Amino acid sequence: MEPILAVKHINKFFGTNQVLKDVSFSVEPGQVHALVGENGAGKSTLMNIIGGIHKPDSGDILLDGNKITIADPWQARELGISVVFQELSLTPNMTVAENIFVRREAASRFGFINWKKLNQQAQDLFDQIGINLSATALVSSYAVGMQQIIEIAKAISFDARVIIMDEPTSALSETEVDRLYSLVGDLTQRGVAIVFISHKLNEVVRIADKISVLRDGQMVGEVDPKASDQGEIIRLMVGRNIDDLYPEKGIDSSDVILEVRNLSNPPVFDDVSITLRRGEILGFAGLVGAGRTEVARAIFGADRFVSGEILLDGVPVEIRSPRHAIEAGIMYLTEDRKMMGLFLPMTVRDNIVAASLDQYRNAVGLLQHKAIVERSQAFMDLVDIRPRDDRTTVVNLSGGNQQKSLLAKCLSAHPKVLIADEPTRGVDVGAKAKIHQDLRKLADQGVGVIVISSELPEVLGLSDRVAVFREGHLASVLAGDDISQEAVMRHAIR
Ligand SMILES: Nc1ncnc2c1ncn2[C@@H]1O[C@H](COP(=O)(O)OP(=O)(O)OP(=O)(O)O)[C@@H](O)[C@H]1O
Ligand SMILES: [Mg+2]
Repeated sequence: MEPILAVKHINKFFGTNQVLKDVSFSVEPGQVHALVGENGAGKSTLMNIIGGIHKPDSGDILLDGNKITIADPWQARELGISVVFQELSLTPNMTVAENIFVRREAASRFGFINWKKLNQQAQDLFDQIGINLSATALVSSYAVGMQQIIEIAKAISFDARVIIMDEPTSALSETEVDRLYSLVGDLTQRGVAIVFISHKLNEVVRIADKISVLRDGQMVGEVDPKASDQGEIIRLMVGRNIDDLYPEKGIDSSDVILEVRNLSNPPVFDDVSITLRRGEILGFAGLVGAGRTEVARAIFGADRFVSGEILLDGVPVEIRSPRHAIEAGIMYLTEDRKMMGLFLPMTVRDNIVAASLDQYRNAVGLLQHKAIVERSQAFMDLVDIRPRDDRTTVVNLSGGNQQKSLLAKCLSAHPKVLIADEPTRGVDVGAKAKIHQDLRKLADQGVGVIVISSELPEVLGLSDRVAVFREGHLASVLAGDDISQEAVMRHAIR
């Protein structure tokens, strides 16, 4: 079939760094074409070229066989190319409808915007694609997963012929993922071409008609998902086998490091009591909206709670803000790295040391530059941030490497307690196994670790105990051999 869109022999440099090397790629109507590769392989860069954000240094872009140039994202949309960006690009303090129709509002001749009409249009769109969203609610009132769905709804609203989804499921729960799959099915039925970028290879194999593999800026192969397994894809991606076994579980400890007593903020969560022991990984499981992240945020001082108590090393602590939490030794690796975690315009170095600056002061309070440089290098090595240059601005890192920077930032503060919310969001298979080991190593050093993840296998594989939440209550705490998918689901749903 004739491709709708093709790129040929694309080269792209950032400074002297060549991130795309003679790349060719095309998409056909009604097909899902997956693009996979390690963190930093060049996937987003390639899609940003197609989406009009970056210009290639050389090479051609063809639409229906005709050479075109794409000046900016708005022109890309006019040409029928719509991108769901890896990093959320919504404006949180505007409504859902405003975000979807921004810069193309159905303005009347006198420049007035007919909000009633716009809201209705947005609501119709949601009904049509079967999602439960309110057009007039603020984007900030939705959790990250739902914001990702809003991004997708926005892309669909442009009547695109090509929709590029750059890790659309990295923050979605299972039901939301199913919803997305059926959306993708509807779109391909109508002849839309989908580019699907994901590190979740089981998803890729399930949804794609064709898989292209990018390694170090080069196309290294095309795989037929029906005729190949994940192992083969991984070998093409990284050039070796990855052993994705979870690290061994920790030793039993009875030494409680963090205790949460009767924490309540109804109706979000109510009467939650939890103990976290030194050296253990405690998983938080439950459906979306069950209160996992909300409890974690309350412990970190990011959200208020109306009653209850938090004890650290047996001593009640008053945590009124994230600053207090960090000072007390609690770090939170956030689900939403843009909103709460990283300072994108700053360098990797400054981000890594930002939460622990006081550790780098000498006797008279001056910052010790050499110590800062050494430490930031050490933590970049530890979590394997690529490229290994701590003066890189975080915004210029690939998505997965931004996630690793966030982990480095949390670790460099030497926390007593680390709350890791979606710790492997957007990282490739190799880096994921590495982060799992890092978390276990941290626990072995005596840190109490809480892990929240939308991937149940990750929670089960990592945790020594699992706290299951249901509708804002702690339904059960499972340990040892009692930890299983069935047991978690039984308590999470009932
Ligand atoms: N604006 C930029 N300026 C400089 N370098 C950049 C910029 N954007 C990306 N890079 C670099 O280009 C390379 C490819 O990054 P890209 O974001 O395309 O990777 P990716 O395959 O999408 O990875 P991930 O799976 O982590 O999202 C990386 O080395 C990255 O640091
Ligand atoms: Mg990317």
